Amino acid sequence: MNAKQNAAIAATKYVKNGMIIGLGTGSTSYYLVEELGKLVKDGLQIIGVTTSLATADHAKSLNIPLKSIDEVSYVDLTIDGADEIDVNFNGTKGGGGALLYEKTVATYSKEYIWIVDESKMVQNLGKFPLPIEVIPYGHKQLMNIFENKNMKPKLRMNNDKLFITDSGHYIIDCSLEKIDNPSKLANWLNTLTGVVEHGLFINMVDKVIIGSENGTQLLKNNNKS
Ligand code: 5RP
Repeated sequence: MNAKQNAAIAATKYVKNGMIIGLGTGSTSYYLVEELGKLVKDGLQIIGVTTSLATADHAKSLNIPLKSIDEVSYVDLTIDGADEIDVNFNGTKGGGGALLYEKTVATYSKEYIWIVDESKMVQNLGKFPLPIEVIPYGHKQLMNIFENKNMKPKLRMNNDKLFITDSGHYIIDCSLEKIDNPSKLANWLNTLTGVVEHGLFINMVDKVIIGSENGTQLLKNNNKS
């Protein structure tokens, strides 16, 4: 099995009968959904809350029962991938463009696990461009603000068309190289009109499962507030 698959399969041991499970998005979460599909076929009873239309389609194809985040009172556990994780358990997400639903589902989850391969573990966030989800109206003003702050913003494209998120927004990817203070940056982004959400997930995760070709390693975030 490859590293992502190992991480995803290891995470399913935290999934118990009767749980409401947040299902992440991306290539690592793909393996998670596949595995849960097999377990459901074998009798596991769960309800999935998906973080993107792509994951919803995948889960439906495997007969995993689904509800939307508004149809449940809480989510027991969400398992998702990440693009970068720093030494303080802060992460960048949104490489697949699903950051808004991903953060929404994670926010209402009792427990939150990231499944990654070793390449995602970094000292500082920033090498991976930071996705910022914005409403179309006024996005050029936001591009100017980011440009003036030397954040090297790029409007995300899908081939020759603009990339549109599941909620109809645009994504601006900022190449920051090194984010010295992720919380400060997150707080500032939260103040900007037109920014719907950003890909900085500050101290949200409880556990990280790092997969390699030989197995997995578990990291626990003991400072989760
Ligand atoms: C999608 C995400 C993904 O979780 C993130 O991009 C990791 O993806 P992958 O598992 O394919 O490496 O945030 O918006």
